[in-house]
Amino acid sequence: MQNNPDQFSSKIGFVLAAAGSAVGIGNLVGFPVAAAKNGGGAFLLLYIFFVVAICLPLILAELSMGRATGKSPLGAFREISKGHKGWVLAGALSLITPFMIAVFYTVLTVWLLGYFLVVLSGRLDQLATPVYFGGFITSPWIFAYLAAVIGMVVLVLKGGVRDGIEKASRLLMPMLFIMLIGLAVFVLTLPNASAGLKFYFTPQLDRITWSVVNGALSQAFFSLSLGMGILITYGSYLRKQDNLVQSAKMLACTDTGVALVAGLMTLPAIFAIYPNTNPSELSDSSVGLIFSFFPNIFMAMVPKFGYAMASFIAATFFLLAFVAAITSLVSIIEVPVAALKAESRQTRNKALALVITGVLVGAVFSALSFGQVKWLTEFAFYAGANKSLFDALVDVFYDTILPFNGLLICLLVTWQWKRHNMAAEMASGGSGGWLERYTHAAIAFWIPAILATVFVITATNKFFS
Ligand code: PHE
Repeated sequence: MQNNPDQFSSKIGFVLAAAGSAVGIGNLVGFPVAAAKNGGGAFLLLYIFFVVAICLPLILAELSMGRATGKSPLGAFREISKGHKGWVLAGALSLITPFMIAVFYTVLTVWLLGYFLVVLSGRLDQLATPVYFGGFITSPWIFAYLAAVIGMVVLVLKGGVRDGIEKASRLLMPMLFIMLIGLAVFVLTLPNASAGLKFYFTPQLDRITWSVVNGALSQAFFSLSLGMGILITYGSYLRKQDNLVQSAKMLACTDTGVALVAGLMTLPAIFAIYPNTNPSELSDSSVGLIFSFFPNIFMAMVPKFGYAMASFIAATFFLLAFVAAITSLVSIIEVPVAALKAESRQTRNKALALVITGVLVGAVFSALSFGQVKWLTEFAFYAGANKSLFDALVDVFYDTILPFNGLLICLLVTWQWKRHNMAAEMASGGSGGWLERYTHAAIAFWIPAILATVFVITATNKFFS
């Protein structure tokens, strides 16, 4: 068992791989922007509260389910519920969710690669023009970048758990941490950076509305890769002797730490360059922000640092975001691959080929939903507006389904698996102290109550308002 290539080689190997999954565009852009728009320090506190009170117990539940059954989500739901049809359906949702997220996340990753290459070729000034983004996402070049991204993902996933996912994370994650800290230190030395810090840390309680609360929760789920079956799958690659509670804590700390540092980089940069920024006017989606606003920040550095240096900083930023995105993409595509391999008894490579083809087709469709193809652009109609395929996927699978999947897990653990069985699994690698005791109580009562409430209100607001 020690040298099983289908398991992580050590606790730290697992933590790096799980952090590779967790640290992504959500941390680098989603979190700082959400904090800036939604009450600064107040949002920070709310977010940290959700991570500790709701997400940590769910991380433990997913990891325990995976390790106890040795299966991917579908198999784990089936085994724990002893084949109950309704629960198998819930397991299927834990496969559809990562697949759909993979589709829109692939498109974002492709844009990041494209922006990195455009900056490298010396065209930062073009990126910063307002019309560039619209032209970029509809240009045929997208498909070349898409091929490159898919190629990289295949390369990593072909290697399997230890020689693919873990090895790539061991190489890329330290590189990512160094780039992130380097950029943050640089930004903090800019004049007027302190205005951004002040904004970041001052709690503005009046900005906390229902949608902010819901946003903080979705963001925490997304950022920690919860509700996507990833941690169930990764749990199945954990050794019995690994301490789950410690691993979960390390994962949550790393992910939240990166998000906080990303805030230290982004907000001071915005304020240093545009001292009169009113953060509530920042673009609504982080997508728009990263692609339209950031190039302007880099261009604004030109008078002081010169074009070459500004381009270098921009290239580092886009590379950082790209690396973070690709390690997340790998983890999310692993979920359906592992499930398909187990369900159909195919070889890993066959399962990989099938899933990748599916993701590729989905990504091409979403990449064409920005005006190029009419039915994809007007894919759905709800809440009084036409939505593109891309937007609909984000609304359904990022904003709405993740907490719902979390709710299903609470119910499965409490009613089917029984909490003492989960407790035994958690304890197999050493005892877990307060978090273990807290999880035991919270997962049956108030976590499901909160998640159910959030799901109902969000679904109503998003789709029927
Ligand atoms: N945690 C990732 C982020 O913060 C989200 C993600 C995870 C996306 C896994 C895809 C796969 O961006």
